[in-house]
Amino acid sequence: MSKLTVLEIAKMKVDRIPIAMLTAYDATFARLIDAAGIDIVLVGDSLGMVIQGHETTIPVTVDDIIYHTRAVARAVKRAHLVADMPFGSYQASCEDGIRNASRLIKEGGAESVKVEGGRELTPFVRAATRAGIPVMGHLGLTPQSVHQLGGFHVQGRDDEAAARIVDDARALEDAGVYAIVLEAVPRALAERVTSAVHVPTIGIGAGPDCDGQVLVIYDLLGFNGRVKPKFVKRYDDFEHRTLDAVAAYMKEVKAKSFPSDEYSFH
Ligand code: KIV
Repeated sequence: MSKLTVLEIAKMKVDRIPIAMLTAYDATFARLIDAAGIDIVLVGDSLGMVIQGHETTIPVTVDDIIYHTRAVARAVKRAHLVADMPFGSYQASCEDGIRNASRLIKEGGAESVKVEGGRELTPFVRAATRAGIPVMGHLGLTPQSVHQLGGFHVQGRDDEAAARIVDDARALEDAGVYAIVLEAVPRALAERVTSAVHVPTIGIGAGPDCDGQVLVIYDLLGFNGRVKPKFVKRYDDFEHRTLDAVAAYMKEVKAKSFPSDEYSFH
């Protein structure tokens, strides 16, 4: 089976085919979401929160992303595989950014990288695309800037902030990104950005007018480990399913009814 390329993802916007993207951090979930036909798998720095148990994505390192990307890359046969560049891995200099992005591609097996930020990143985006590394942008609520933003709040609510996000999207497109994630912005602004650029927009908390959508797999499955943002739809309740399954196992172990004959060697 051939892999979905950034060129095919770009064409999905032209053909008005919605793009479905999800995060994965291990081979099991990666195998399942790929088999289900997801278009893009993101090894997000959200792993800092849902896998490592941190309050923010900030402590995640390049080595952490490489470790999880390797596991995911082994399992993904069709989807495009993008890896997040974690906080501090591309802000200091273009050289630093290229070195770290190259590691995610070469050591992790990612096919593109994602960075958070606007026009200030255009030198990096140009340098990376020149080096053969496709880059996905990320605007609106950029969790790596949580301390500057003062929390995880909706962005682009006033005219000036909205205009800045539209201009940032244009600047990123001009620099060469192949797609842009829009996180936690008003629906009307997401629609404006989506019409303003030719590259696909992929929304999370940005309403239905983006060219695609992304969610964190743990949120979609209903693991309630963290506060549920308004935009998260839980498609199942694995928090309770897990608790129920573990309780059933414990009950049988304590009652010595597991393992029964059926699960024993003779
Ligand atoms: O880290 C992540 O999972 C993300 C998505 C929520 C877009 O950046």
